[in-house]
Amino acid sequence: MRVIVEKTPEAASQRAARYVASLVREKPICVLGLATGGTPLKLYGELIRMHQEEGLDFSRTTSFNLDEYVGLPPTHEQSYRYFMQHNLFDKINIDVRNTHVPDGRALDFDKYCEHYEQMIVDNGGIDLQILGIGTDGHIAFNEPGSSLGSRTRLKTLAPETVKDNARFFGGEKLVPRLAVTMGVGTILESKKCALLAFGENKAEAIALAVEGPVTAQVTASALQMHREVHVFLDEGSAAHLARREYYDEVEKAHQMLETGKLSWTDD
Ligand code: PGA
Repeated sequence: MRVIVEKTPEAASQRAARYVASLVREKPICVLGLATGGTPLKLYGELIRMHQEEGLDFSRTTSFNLDEYVGLPPTHEQSYRYFMQHNLFDKINIDVRNTHVPDGRALDFDKYCEHYEQMIVDNGGIDLQILGIGTDGHIAFNEPGSSLGSRTRLKTLAPETVKDNARFFGGEKLVPRLAVTMGVGTILESKKCALLAFGENKAEAIALAVEGPVTAQVTASALQMHREVHVFLDEGSAAHLARREYYDEVEKAHQMLETGKLSWTDD
């Protein structure tokens, strides 16, 4: 895991956007795995800016979203399809036919989830999966106890998640209790992952995910098994990391390699 800590969520999001953009430039026919929630909003804002001002081209990009609430139509303001249209797809030149968000209204979910997995495979797999983290340590809606080998399926939301997401629905009672979500196993098959977290309320989940044991009780910890994960944090979400100084050293080393200045002294 490469842990990158920036001073602010804005700086960390810009850093993450540059990481996404470099893939889109290098491999125009790429497959992005996308996430919803408050965390990736600044990253999407930066990608939109790069599209508008720097000509970042998404015309040959395909996308797969992690999850969707069961029962919400795509026109519902809290559906993840609606979120993606308004916060990214409508503002860049991605072909909407190449964007995939799980259908929360499928009639036969077993069949539908298998179909979603197959579509990912048919498109060559996900090149880069963007991820947020829940305060309960989840990635996508893989709540504590989810199998680390799980695939796309229905999942019941944990009480922490219902509480966290109540702000979007105007009360806990209105939050859907079921979601279609990619599994931990699905996510681990992505070629690269970018995990983003901001704010002190994510600090404990991040410490457990990055430095704790790999456990189904913190599904983000499964990313320790993945060979190419970048973790983009602000100071708040990095606050509980025990090995923070080391991560900063690693960043310095990367900068040296990038600039070709291989010197460990200041002069
Ligand atoms: P948030 O959600 O970005 O709204 O904090 C993250 C998540 O639950 O994965």
